[in-house]
Formats: sequence, C-alpha cells, structure tokens
Amino acid sequence: MSILFSQARIGNMTLKNRFVRSATWENMATEDGHMTDKLYAIYEELAQGEVGLIVTGYANIVEEEKPNAGMMGMYNDSFIDEYKKLTELVHENDSKIVMQLAYGGTKTTHNVGERVIFAPSEVPERGTQTLGKAMTKDEIDYIVQAFAQASRRAQQSGFDGVEIHAAHTYLINQFLSPYYNRREDEYGGSLENRMRFLVEIYTEIRKLVGDDFPILVKLTATEFFEGGLTFDETRIICKQLEAMGVDAIIISGNIHGKANELIGEQFDGYTLQQEGYFHEYGDVISKDVNVPVITVGGLSDIDAIEAIADNTNIQYFALSRPLLAEPHLIKRWKEGDKAVVDCERCSKCRTRRGNFCVVHNKRK
Ligand SMILES: Cc1cc2nc3c(=O)[nH]c(=O)nc-3n(C[C@H](O)[C@H](O)[C@H](O)COP(=O)(O)O)c2cc1C
Repeated sequence: MSILFSQARIGNMTLKNRFVRSATWENMATEDGHMTDKLYAIYEELAQGEVGLIVTGYANIVEEEKPNAGMMGMYNDSFIDEYKKLTELVHENDSKIVMQLAYGGTKTTHNVGERVIFAPSEVPERGTQTLGKAMTKDEIDYIVQAFAQASRRAQQSGFDGVEIHAAHTYLINQFLSPYYNRREDEYGGSLENRMRFLVEIYTEIRKLVGDDFPILVKLTATEFFEGGLTFDETRIICKQLEAMGVDAIIISGNIHGKANELIGEQFDGYTLQQEGYFHEYGDVISKDVNVPVITVGGLSDIDAIEAIADNTNIQYFALSRPLLAEPHLIKRWKEGDKAVVDCERCSKCRTRRGNFCVVHNKRK
C-alpha cells in the first residue's frame, strides 16, 4: 500500500499526504512585494487541490535586493497582516504552508545596476554573467540577521515553517560552492568554512523562532560542473544540517531547461532520471541522515512516484511545473485518475504577465 496519501510529520507539522508544492515564484506580487488577489487565489486553489504542504515562491529578505519581478517580500513587518490572511486561507482548506526565504544575488539579470548585489567573491555567475560585490563581514552579518528577522515575521504571520533557499546558485549556494566562493577568510576555503554562512543563518533563525518551528533547507545535490560543489560535499552538509536540527532537506539541482538533454547522464556516480531527476541523490542522503528528505524535479507520473516511494527511502515529493498546469493534480490522483499530467516540461511558464502554464492553463 502506497504511503503517498498517508499522514506524516515534518518537525511538529502534520501533513495529510506526502505531496509538496515546490517553491514557485509567481511573478504576481506588487512592485514592492505585497500580496495581490491573484496570489491569494493561486494559494487557495492549491490548498483546495489537496497539496499537503505548499511552499511559497521565494521571498526577499532585504528591500534593496529583489532578484526578480513580482516576487513576494518579507523584508519588514508591514507584511505580517497580509500573510496572516494567506496562511488562514490555506489552513481553512486543510493544507500547510511554509515560506521560502532567499537572498538572490547574481543568478538573475533583474535590475542589474540598480540594486546592490552581494556575492561571496567577484566571480560572474556562469549563466547570467552578472558580477556581484564580495561581501564584507558586516554585510554577511546583515544578511544573516535579515534571514532571522524574516523568519520571525513568517512565524508571526502563521506560516507553518520556513524554507531556506540554499540551492540553484542563489547566494547561499554560492557560498557553499568552491567555484563561486574564493574567499580566504573564515567563510571560504574548507567545506567547513564555506558552510559557515548557512550554519549562521540557520542558527540565528532558530534562536528567534524556537525549537518547535520547522526550518527546511533546499540544496543542490551537485553543481554538475567541474570545480563546483560535489555530491560528496552535499552529503557532508546534510550531516551538519541534521546535527543542528534542520526539520527537512529538499534535494534539487540546477538544470532547469537543460533537464531533457541531461537525463541519463551520470554525475558524481549517480544518474539523472527521467522521472524524479535527482531522486538517486535524495535516496543516498535519506539513508545518510535521519531527517525527512523531499525530492523535487521531474515528478509527473503517479506510478513512478509510487515506485520511488516503494523502492527508496524518500517519503516526500515536491512538484512545481505540473501544479502550474494542473493545480488540482493531487486531488485528481487521490481520486484514482492517473491520466497523463498536462505538463510538457517545456518550462515556458515564466512570462512577463506572471508565471503560469501557457500551454494548458492559460486562464491567468
Ligand atoms: C515558474 C517557476 C518558478 C520557480 N520559482 C522557484 C522559487 O521561487 N524557488 C525555488 O527554490 N525554486 C523555484 N523553481 C524551481 C522549482 O521549485 C523546482 O525545483 C523545479 O521547477 C523542478 O521541479 P518540477 O520538475 O516539478 O518543475 C521555480 C520553477 C518554475 C518553473
């Protein structure tokens, strides 16, 4: 019998099933990151579609650094009341909601030249070629505190937890990476030093939110290029996260758009899969640590998800694009309808008018 629709716990959060809406930036907040009716409607629909845990799109933690248009903000207390309305809406529909917090950095080309862009070192991002400013110790402390304050606001707003975005070449991922992090102080060099920024962020959040508030961390399994963060290093990072008390780890990658070309390729000893790109990596981690592991990326076939649940130690499954195409997908699966999902993985879901499925769900 499949575990997929059975109850489970992440930290002190009880989930009605094992399906997670992976963090998905909607590009539908106001210019300064405030909620809109469209955003409330999206979250209500996801909750009504029986997603067990909804992770918000990434929210910026300092006002001056917004790495993308239309993203949600969490950089001051003015957001608390409108997010209370959001969390109540989700809870009324019997789902849970966690806010993803991020400092962007050089990963995007949004408003380059108009915003301060921090980086561990002056190394251009490989895709965007955006160059950031190597952070001083004071700037590191400032961002660490900003993550903690944003988490405190999330807790006050009724979120069930927070997710630290440490994947996809955003700032924290860059600190972990030996390619992007060329620092010679206590934040660079050895893996222990490269992890320090993430460890400090986690520690400061925990101090403010207490032991019972779930903190999740999203990581890149491996950077998939020579000289980048390796999977062996990610395994060590996960052991450190376990020792500190992290409540769940999301194992992702950074191959968006290129996934179709890379499926079947081996990196650091494991193979990218057609269904659940990174689940071989997630499985290894879930056996290394006694922390729930969530796999994300390329999950769209309920039978394949069941097979992963049966044959690996992974117990949670996060989806992004399939839920843009079909917000009620989990409900449909629960009701026994296994028809092919209306998601072609074309990744055309990012548009200037907001992020939605332009092929199958154009209603926005
Ligand atoms: C439109 C769009 C927005 C996204 N925004 C975020 C985000 O805010 N934070 C994040 O960690 N990942 C983000 N992602 C990545 C997804 O969470 C997920 O890791 C990736 O799409 C692979 O999962 P999928 O195959 O189910 O789409 C985004 C993906 C898409 C398509």
